Amino acid sequence: MATASRNNALPRPVDGGVAARLLAWYDDHHRDLPWRVSPADLARGVRPDPYHVWLSEVMLQQTTVEAVKPYFRDFLVKWPDVKALAAASNDDVMRAWAGLGYYSRARNLKACANLVATLPDSFPDSEDGLRALPGIGAYTAAAIAAIAFGRPAAVVDGNVERVTARLFDIRTPLPEAKPEIKEHVATLVPVARPGDFAQAMMDLGATICTPKRPRCMLCPLREDCRAVLSGDPELLPLKAPKGDKPKRSGIAYVAVRSDGAVLMRTRAEKGLLGGMTEVPTTGWSEGRGGLGGDTRPPFAADWRKAGSIEHVFTHFALDLEVRRADLGRAAAPAGHRWVAAADIAGEALPTVMKKAIEAAIPGATKKPRSAT
Ligand code: ADE
Repeated sequence: MATASRNNALPRPVDGGVAARLLAWYDDHHRDLPWRVSPADLARGVRPDPYHVWLSEVMLQQTTVEAVKPYFRDFLVKWPDVKALAAASNDDVMRAWAGLGYYSRARNLKACANLVATLPDSFPDSEDGLRALPGIGAYTAAAIAAIAFGRPAAVVDGNVERVTARLFDIRTPLPEAKPEIKEHVATLVPVARPGDFAQAMMDLGATICTPKRPRCMLCPLREDCRAVLSGDPELLPLKAPKGDKPKRSGIAYVAVRSDGAVLMRTRAEKGLLGGMTEVPTTGWSEGRGGLGGDTRPPFAADWRKAGSIEHVFTHFALDLEVRRADLGRAAAPAGHRWVAAADIAGEALPTVMKKAIEAAIPGATKKPRSAT
């Protein structure tokens, strides 16, 4: 070991010690997360509930652990198992999901629950079986297979990419490095405790091997890490330069009735934010400069500029000007409905719409989440 670790010219041989050192660290330093079975409980024979693992992994796609915690708890209170989730209405699930973003995930979650509830053995226990389900890609299938079913799958999320790029001093930039990183992870996965190994890699990335100022002095793998040897772990992983996201812009119209009700409508089922609630908005036109297309409000009124908001989606950044009109009694135009002030917080409003409404009516979308 010692000789190899000093020889920077060779690919570093990895022995089973890396997983052992990491797991020993995880035993003492793992994060307590509501969907997790602790190493001590696992050793006592407690098995992770595949429903909990699946639900948390789908929620954690593109969302932080801290943001997911209250949603995970809330879902379990409302729908304690996959059959309960399958029996729920799409609307209720979308409402409970609102704020987590990437709403196609919620639609796939519901479709997956509906399907799994019909299977005699509930969730499939292999990566291939899991991949065949709606909303489960390579990462999520590997994570569920390893964590819920103890399969020796290579689980690679952003944290694991960083840890691995540093451990092996991988200089290929992301995303090109992804297959190389996965191959390296596969060489590390232990036959025993592959789920804990996956989560230990994630925890190491989240708490020690951080993007900036990694705390290498506390790292259980510092002796194994080629990036430590080569001097600057913080430089890794390298990333191919990203083009700026394209910009779109539009106008959101917040019509407020004298009793505080706000005019809303439901977006089309398919496509971006499908099935979610929105205030009337123009189309979101492309191009950096100004608005294009139809900027007409839902009806003629004294519309005044109330502010503007920005929101970044996966594939574009949106600037929305927010206009507000105050009305007495007014009939809702076709395809729209008035939502009483007390019901706004319970609507399936995506974050971009919450921002728009807040710009026009501060505090309108806020209500404490149900206690969990
Ligand atoms: N991110 C995605 N899945 C996770 C998990 N199981 N534990 C911690 N962070 C995660």
